[in-house]
Amino acid sequence: MELTMQSKTKEISSQLSGAEPTLVERTKMLTGADYWSTAALNQRDVRPVRMSDGPHGLRIQNDDNPDHLGLGRSDISTCFPPAVTLAASWDEMLIVEIGSALGAEARARGVGLILGPGMNLKRSPLCGRNFEYFSEDPLLTGKLAAAMIKGIQSQGVGSCIKHFAVNNQETERLRVSAEIDERTLREVYLRGFEIAIEQANPWAVMSAYNKVNGTYASENEWLLTKVLRDEWRYDGVVVSDWGGVNDPVAALRGGLDVRMPGKPEDTKVLDAIRAGHLEEELVERAISRVHRLDMRTRSIFLDPGSVDFGAHHALVRRAARESAVLLKNDQAILPLDLSREHSIAVIGSLATQPRYQGVGSSVVNCPPVLDVFSSLSKRASTATQVHFAPGYIDDEHVDPILIEQAAALAKSSDVTLLIVGLPSHYEAEGSDRHHIDLPTAHLALIEAVGKVASNVVVGLVNGSVVRTAPWAHYASSIVEFWLTGQAHGEAIADVLDGTVNPSGKLPETVPARLEDTPSYLNFPGDSHQVHYGEGIFVGYRYFDARQMSVDYPFGHGLSYTSFDYSNLVSHVHDACDEIALTLTLNLRNCGKRNGAEVVQLYIQDHGQSIQVPKRELRAFAKVPLIAGETKQITLQVPRKHLEHFYPGESCWAFVGGDLTLHVGSSSRDIRLNERLFVPGTPLTTKLNIWATFREWLDDPTFGPQLQQLIDDGGGIKGRVGDLLSDEASRHSIMSAPLKMLLEFPAFPVTEGQAVALLADS
Ligand code: BGC
Repeated sequence: MELTMQSKTKEISSQLSGAEPTLVERTKMLTGADYWSTAALNQRDVRPVRMSDGPHGLRIQNDDNPDHLGLGRSDISTCFPPAVTLAASWDEMLIVEIGSALGAEARARGVGLILGPGMNLKRSPLCGRNFEYFSEDPLLTGKLAAAMIKGIQSQGVGSCIKHFAVNNQETERLRVSAEIDERTLREVYLRGFEIAIEQANPWAVMSAYNKVNGTYASENEWLLTKVLRDEWRYDGVVVSDWGGVNDPVAALRGGLDVRMPGKPEDTKVLDAIRAGHLEEELVERAISRVHRLDMRTRSIFLDPGSVDFGAHHALVRRAARESAVLLKNDQAILPLDLSREHSIAVIGSLATQPRYQGVGSSVVNCPPVLDVFSSLSKRASTATQVHFAPGYIDDEHVDPILIEQAAALAKSSDVTLLIVGLPSHYEAEGSDRHHIDLPTAHLALIEAVGKVASNVVVGLVNGSVVRTAPWAHYASSIVEFWLTGQAHGEAIADVLDGTVNPSGKLPETVPARLEDTPSYLNFPGDSHQVHYGEGIFVGYRYFDARQMSVDYPFGHGLSYTSFDYSNLVSHVHDACDEIALTLTLNLRNCGKRNGAEVVQLYIQDHGQSIQVPKRELRAFAKVPLIAGETKQITLQVPRKHLEHFYPGESCWAFVGGDLTLHVGSSSRDIRLNERLFVPGTPLTTKLNIWATFREWLDDPTFGPQLQQLIDDGGGIKGRVGDLLSDEASRHSIMSAPLKMLLEFPAFPVTEGQAVALLADS
């Protein structure tokens, strides 16, 4: 009590006098001042920074009842399309614009840090938060996240990438340990974060709730200090996820700077320092990072700017329609002609009750949203009749009367548009899905309508993929609209009536069955552990390795026009150049409509000594082309993007070798190929006594020396000699560790001699 009184007095006096802050005051900087702000430290001129979710719109809570799960109300903001949708645009420039608009809304409201983008990789289609994440591919994830960060930070507002790391499921997210090998961690689950940090330097990183290999991400020194700080040279601030700190002392030691939300009354860190169990410098380290964030975001108060909400709505509309993926268009039913005399049946409750965002901390309170039916009806000419039937109301229970009405309407119409998808409780923060099918009532509706109507278009509204195999044959056309953000009806109608030509591509595979997915046997784990048993084979890397058929492959997306690829020319750079390859090719829009194509480069690497995927995305470009136009496209591959992580040597390397370049319109629609040699940097493996006989003999230094010892000892005789001279057995000796051969009688070299060779080097 005495001590508390004394320190309180000291604290007040230090604030008044402008003297050095006390330890009590300084440790308060390690936690939020309240639900949404960092703490201030007046004596050091550190001001509070206000934060807000994120990632696809602001969730500013100005009332006294804040929450981190989107339950409370928040101020009206623009609801942009979530990451799943933006990722399907494959358009970095578009995402920079979205980021910049988000930043402008934050700036105008004094928010210095946006909690987003979410960057976790899509390991399983079941993850309940997949709608908030970009892709199953680390390069695509990293580049699109970098675009978002650049946009946000161009407004003087910080971006906080999350959830670092390996938060790939919602089940047990607060307790589960992701058990994962180092190569998979680095090449798959950390790689996107690494790219985003390298390309866009976000001002904050949010640690994940889960454990990584047994240690909470928020206190994982390997993750937060060795990798993030020492290797990636990251200089921003690390904040915890809300409530995601297990032990604040271990967290500070591991590299966490700020614990959120505020818990200023907790004295654990203070007690540990006073007891001599924790170094005071760590407090200073964290304060300096918080201060840097404050300094970086101060300009927002000098000039808050203003927000053009009309322009932001138009941007949402553009982004949503650019991200729609035309999965199938068999009889070219799309685009619909809304000027001619015919009838269109619009069926499905989702056509009048729009679903345009996911559930949880990312929920945005936005202006009223126009539905698909109203939007189509408004723009249809008097000649075109547009009628509606709900088809389902309860997603899980088939209502025979509603189905019958819908089928009758479809039968009497020229074209039927079915709007189906996932209800909000299917994809919500905090829980995962159990299957990848549409809800029962939607499936029954598609079947009933498909059996009686011929021109059926299915429009999908969902934030994580659904399989199409069970019902795709009923549909002539299928369009994946994802979650559109607030310009729902307008954007969907723009694609359906051909106001725009769809140009989205799948940022994740649509599997044929849940049982086919790479993590099927290891998701979501049990006993608070989840084993990443599929290793680096995530998404298309797995489906391609197993040569499995899928509903729609990674990168797939059709257009109302068609594109021709030709004239691939490649230039291989020197091994010392940061760029390994430059390619050019010609792309022609050979149809009658303007459109855009995403040119994708996948590389098959024949030269690595470790197992690598069949091919991996290494570059892409979104290219708009007017009808009939040809453009020359240039793609560059940085050397770093060809590297793999060699766990034995604990380093990244591209050792060089033959590569096959596959350029195409999807991961399984390859239009141009070329095989060529690309020089790299061979790995310098340190030889030891357990290296194989072949590795010893191939070594430029030790090979000749060992051979000399063998010759001096009269050559290899006895059993080893016999086996070596036998054609069929030679390989087993050459691939045996030297240590084992030394054990055999008549082998002319001793272990002491071999060890001495290594010691002398
Ligand atoms: C979520 C974060 C979010 C935070 C604050 C947490 O539950 O995982 O993504 O930013 O709440 O709302």
